[in-house]
Amino acid sequence: MSAQIIDGKAVAAGLRDDLAQQVQHATAAGQRPPGLAVVLVGDNPASQVYVRNKERACAQAGLHSVKYTPAADVSQAELEALIDELNAREDIDGILVQLPLPAHLDSEALLDRIDPTKDVDGFHPDNIGRLLQKRPGLRPCTPYGVMKLLEAVGEDCTGKRAVVVGASNIVGRPMAMELLLANATVTICNSRTRDLAAEVGRADIVVAGVGKPEFVRGDWVREGAVVIDVGINRTAAGTLVGDVEFEAAARRARAITPVPGGVGPMTIAMLLHNTLSAWQARSGG
Ligand code: GUN
Repeated sequence: MSAQIIDGKAVAAGLRDDLAQQVQHATAAGQRPPGLAVVLVGDNPASQVYVRNKERACAQAGLHSVKYTPAADVSQAELEALIDELNAREDIDGILVQLPLPAHLDSEALLDRIDPTKDVDGFHPDNIGRLLQKRPGLRPCTPYGVMKLLEAVGEDCTGKRAVVVGASNIVGRPMAMELLLANATVTICNSRTRDLAAEVGRADIVVAGVGKPEFVRGDWVREGAVVIDVGINRTAAGTLVGDVEFEAAARRARAITPVPGGVGPMTIAMLLHNTLSAWQARSGG
């Protein structure tokens, strides 16, 4: 079998076009555009690239975006004051604090301070709790994007065995909740899982988000499975690889995401989607 390569760029572009049309329609009718505030602390080069891509996507979709770039030595109190100000602003529907933050800052306390109705990353405990309780609010962008990719390849999760490799707050845990919401039978593997190969081998759907290059071996994958690779790792040679051994997995899977060009573009599309949802909830748009 040779897998269908899931084109995340194309799926994301389609979503972004839809969002742009909705924004254009509303603004032409005199509504204010959706507003996203991005807070980028310090000068982490990877974070700078992510934020630049987010700003560009906002501009293309007609969203109003503002960027705050406090220096790396900004205090917790100053950032808390900034979040309070953004929570109160009428023209801002979404607030995103780019992670990771410098070590002296308490990231959890900052993320908890964001108004949950403006938490377009979906990281606030209220939003995670809502997802857990089958009444989702703003949903974490990457897992939400993965669900859209599964939909795009016609994968109905109902009754399927889904295995999530990695149990992080940003990917693994909310991913498992999304799959459960879609009626899959879900296993979450972590670094202590005893026989990972056997767990992966039972899966109809595999989602890998561990941050280790080619950690999920291709020969673990069951024939006909759908494989979603959330990882993005730079090798010593400078190339990008995912958390899945792509070539070998693609020989067994029914469909698989490439890295880059799979899940990555979806995360930004879902950020825009969440900002629009927050704006609609605020403005009744
Ligand atoms: N850093 C890496 N990925 C993300 C993300 O999705 N959101 C935020 N806020 N920071 C990140």
